[in-house]
Amino acid sequence: MQPKRYLITSALPYANGLKHIGHLAGAYIPADIYVRYLRSQQRDVVFVCGSDEHGTAIPIQAMKEHTTAQEIIDKYHQAMKEDFSDLHISFDVYDRTSSKLHHETAREFFSFLLDRNELETKETEQFYDEASNTFLADRFIKGTCPKCKSDRAYGDQCETCGSALSPDELINPVSTISGNKPVKKKTTHWYLPLAAHENFLREWILQQHKDDWRASVVGQCKSWIDGGLQSRAVTRDLDWGIKVPLKDAEGKVLYVWFDAPIGYISATKQWAIDHNKDWKPYWYDADTQLVHFIGKDNIVFHCIIFPVMLKLHGNILPTSVPANEFLNLEGDKMSTSRNWKLEMRDYINDFVKKDNGGDQCVDMLRYYLTQIAPETKDSEFTWKGFQDAVNSELVAVFGNFVNRTFVLMHKLCAGKVPAYHPDAEDAIDRQLREDIQAAKKKVEDSIEHYRFREALFEVIDLARKGNKYMQEKEPWIKAKTVKENPLGQLAIDNCLHNCLQLTANLAILIHPFLPSTAVQMCKMMKVVEKMLDWSNAGGLKLLSVGYSLREPQLLFRKIEDEEVTTQINKLKSASMSTTESSASASENAFLPLKPEITIDDFGKIDLRTGIILSAQKVPKADKLLQLEVDLGFEKRTILSGIAMHFSPEEVVGKQVIVVANLAPRKMRGIDSNGMILMAEDLSGKLYFADAGSLSKGGWKVS
Ligand code: 2FM
Ligand code: ZN
Repeated sequence: MQPKRYLITSALPYANGLKHIGHLAGAYIPADIYVRYLRSQQRDVVFVCGSDEHGTAIPIQAMKEHTTAQEIIDKYHQAMKEDFSDLHISFDVYDRTSSKLHHETAREFFSFLLDRNELETKETEQFYDEASNTFLADRFIKGTCPKCKSDRAYGDQCETCGSALSPDELINPVSTISGNKPVKKKTTHWYLPLAAHENFLREWILQQHKDDWRASVVGQCKSWIDGGLQSRAVTRDLDWGIKVPLKDAEGKVLYVWFDAPIGYISATKQWAIDHNKDWKPYWYDADTQLVHFIGKDNIVFHCIIFPVMLKLHGNILPTSVPANEFLNLEGDKMSTSRNWKLEMRDYINDFVKKDNGGDQCVDMLRYYLTQIAPETKDSEFTWKGFQDAVNSELVAVFGNFVNRTFVLMHKLCAGKVPAYHPDAEDAIDRQLREDIQAAKKKVEDSIEHYRFREALFEVIDLARKGNKYMQEKEPWIKAKTVKENPLGQLAIDNCLHNCLQLTANLAILIHPFLPSTAVQMCKMMKVVEKMLDWSNAGGLKLLSVGYSLREPQLLFRKIEDEEVTTQINKLKSASMSTTESSASASENAFLPLKPEITIDDFGKIDLRTGIILSAQKVPKADKLLQLEVDLGFEKRTILSGIAMHFSPEEVVGKQVIVVANLAPRKMRGIDSNGMILMAEDLSGKLYFADAGSLSKGGWKVS
């Protein structure tokens, strides 16, 4: 029995930066394929997504970009929305969690659980940064991962191995705001007591879904459940987020992982408002199939925590959570900090928006990312692999078959669909017709089980069979002798008739994967897009006899060797520029020297070594950092114009050389007592003048 309706979600991406092709392959392209497939069957489906705009990731990005959290979310929400649209991800709604509707929905959810005593409060000691007066939740604290020992672990998750963490598990934790070692301070929060739901989770995931969910998903859930379910805090001490809807909860917001999945509900509500529909059946009616497409680092939130929340709130549970593994790039993990990545936007600019780009380049990327989709294990994007997939499959197999069919039909059948002559049908014809019908079933079965790689392989395999069929039939050879052997015309007709029906089938089957290609094929066949309805797949009379078709156009262009080289070089140089100096100007481009001074002039300057103890941004002054510098004999407040180059946490602990006898100067109402010496390279990048390895400040520099 088919479900009445489908609600398909893709993970809400954090609005803290542009997203890369690993994200695209993980949670967006597979969902889009599934949704397009369902739509082609006229099923009732809503595809929701939106930007995840809360959590510590946002203010941290704002610090990095020296701007406000609001500006960050506005900028990246818009940019991500455009990128998804440029790559033809067909959300029915792309919402944002900063919307009023979402804030209300999330608060109502929290209050509902609270009113029914489903949340508990606990007072605990949590890490606190005294320099910034901030509790250090999630990304505000970092340290060494207890599992993989990487130093890129945060209070919620390790960037390297993906393990979910709590701040207490971090080895050598430090504040990412000030760089200081945190202290512990008491605070009260609301918790979701997961242990109370262990039986439900065991039964629902480990029994009911043990065979129909991916093994990696069930496995991760099992290890969470077996490891003992801890209560999860659903609130945080932060000033960025959705305020806890209680009077005595000043300074507390909902935890981002509490509000973000509720974003799926608010997005559905927004869609319903926009389309004058009722959103409720999508979240309350048991005949709705809810499917979450995510990356593997989101499994616990979508399979354990959110389902418990949904159950308590009276909503339906997900039918499936097809989580993908990670996509690596050219032999290494993708990483934003190391700049080892291919952002969607880069691909769009370098391929889609180029002269020889356009929609076919969108489909080329969709094709390769589906062909290598990390469905059961991590997989790898290489530019050579991309070139091979495009040139030897899309161009040489799929595109070639369609093109040959059209060219021959124009040449041998006057551009019209020839008749089919059952009497002249042979075993090869019959086999091809059976292959067309079998392919439909295989593709259907694979898509319905979220095996998109396999489904796509079946489509290409059918095109490959088409090429083989044409090669065996050789209508161009038969055409040479048709005068002497008029029966040869029947064989030519049958061959091209079958090839054309196959072309129509290929358009239908490829449509969920490569939507623009399918539409382009419809144009060439001079048929309306309605022909792409899935119910037509397997049909052998899709193009009527005598119908005249347009001239063919090449569906795909080749990827040239130099494009591959350019992209590989670009990747390498971008990653090198993040680790090495960007100074690159020629030697004679140095600034001219200032007029000569005497030793007495120089002697007037008292240079001392110092250590930066703390740093903070100066309100309303983009360029200034307020530093507290230990000169050994005294501590000084110094304002330094380096805020565009360094974040406060980067400079704390740095050894510096200070002009210690400079007259004090007031800036923004603060007295600055000295100046930090910096070196500037030819590109304008700043470096601290090296003060050696000092354990104390105050030494004279001479
Ligand atoms: O991992 C992430 O990028 C999260 N922003 C995903 C959230 S998915 C959902 F729950 F909203
Ligand atoms: Zn780790």
